[in-house]
Amino acid sequence: MLPSFVSPTASAAASVTPPPRPIPGSYGPPVLGPLRDRLDYFWFQSQDEFFRKRAAAHRSTVFRTNIPPTFPFFVGVDPRVVAIVDAAAFTALFDPDLVDKRDILIGPYNPGAGFTGGTRVGVYLDTQEEEHARVKTFAMDLLHRSARTWSADFRASVGAMLDAVDAEFGKDDGSDKKPSASYLVPLQQCIFRFLCKAFVGADPSADWLVDNFGFTILDIWLALQILPTQKIGLVQPLEELLIHSFPLPSFLIWPGYYVLYRFIEKHGAEAVAYAEAQHGIGKKDAINNILFVLGFNAFGGFSVFLPFLVAKVGGAPALRERLRDEVRRAMVGKDGEFGFATVREGMPLVRSTVYEMLRMQPPVPLQFGRARRDFVLRSHGGAAYQVSAGEVLCGYQPLAMRDPEVFERPEEFVPERFLGDEGARLLQHLFWSNGPETAQPGPGNKQCAAKEVVVDTACMLLAELFRRYDDFEVEGTSFTKLVKRQASPSVAQAAAAAGAQQ
Ligand code: HEM
Repeated sequence: MLPSFVSPTASAAASVTPPPRPIPGSYGPPVLGPLRDRLDYFWFQSQDEFFRKRAAAHRSTVFRTNIPPTFPFFVGVDPRVVAIVDAAAFTALFDPDLVDKRDILIGPYNPGAGFTGGTRVGVYLDTQEEEHARVKTFAMDLLHRSARTWSADFRASVGAMLDAVDAEFGKDDGSDKKPSASYLVPLQQCIFRFLCKAFVGADPSADWLVDNFGFTILDIWLALQILPTQKIGLVQPLEELLIHSFPLPSFLIWPGYYVLYRFIEKHGAEAVAYAEAQHGIGKKDAINNILFVLGFNAFGGFSVFLPFLVAKVGGAPALRERLRDEVRRAMVGKDGEFGFATVREGMPLVRSTVYEMLRMQPPVPLQFGRARRDFVLRSHGGAAYQVSAGEVLCGYQPLAMRDPEVFERPEEFVPERFLGDEGARLLQHLFWSNGPETAQPGPGNKQCAAKEVVVDTACMLLAELFRRYDDFEVEGTSFTKLVKRQASPSVAQAAAAAGAQQ
């Protein structure tokens, strides 16, 4: 549990704002302190436990700790951070006046430009660097351009994925095991193919290698960058020795990276030329930036988020029934085609479910920023902490998104949480995109450029599942029940009636 806060009313009654207090916690002795925290983080505790236990021990939602990777070969990586696990103090991380986001995407450790063809790509740039606005505007322009085909490309890719899943599910292997079909690989392939087409205008089917192995190249490329910061669950101490002790070398993935580089150069030539002509971004930097947004932000983000979403809905029978009814109602008169308008206006419960999933399991759990200057970090109930210039803030979203001061029943998955006026009010506290859901990404901030389209796409995936199936069940990351849609009399009648009126 998070420690409870002084309520805002109680602090108002006290009528004086308490002075900033020193941030509790310590980094421990050199080498031993970081090592102890590293072993807790990767070995003895889960990530959640790591932050919860320290918050409880210090009776504070802002505290000092070390964050791995640290010892012994991460030369120049300073693991000392100020951790934030409540929703109020977390907002400091979104304020470009307070924090510098230079080279701090995944923490004090930066995998380096060896993974990005030598370019310092946009996500590693701070808002005060001129190049940030240029590259972010380019990414947002590409997204706007892609809006015309995004939903059609997505539906086509999901259709192909579900064809593959159906074929696998229908296979009779001669055993009396329950039929099942894993969706992990087909979903990754679907995400990769659709993103290449929609975002870059590059069709992978034009290149056999990219079409079949592009997503695997990205998986390896991503893994080499982030594994030093991730707990995998291999046998210890092997994991500590082999994966968390030194930066993983980028040259291992260079051949794969250049397959994708050449693919974008050739088949995404229009997007690359657009970067040069409209934004003054040279060819090499344009391709490296496209690859990063495509591979890290978009493919990486969806690959983490969508499988969890499908698994959550696939394990909740009562919710599925309600979602299916809502989707089927929204389908009437739409010829079964969902675009942005339908998922934005016609499926409030689907949307609220997606938001709730993003709250319970934010796909990017940690956000970092370096204090530009000394400032007072404010939390609930007037609590205030003195932060010094240069200190690294580390927000842990999974706890901040379960802040009991903000969310009722914070540990429970409540699909209807974001419905109605009260639900809309809560959206200001939903931070998955590195900013409030009520704010807008722009060149002057670091909020996810695709904030709107990520939610829409997740809604479309659920809509497509319920368009095709009356019901499905999921265990782990496999479908264990798939019931193809039978046109129900009510839906068929409603559709006929809608047709008659036209
Ligand atoms: C589930 C999917 C996604 C998630 C969870 C996600 C999450 C995030 C987060 C947390 C950040 C901020 C990182 C930081 O600075 O700390 C970010 C930045 C960004 N995202 Fe997303 N994202 C997703 C999909 C996408 C997609 C589909 C695109 C574009 C096609 C995209 C484009 C970007 C860009 C360009 C930035 C950099 C913003 C900047 O530097 O100012 N993201 N994303």
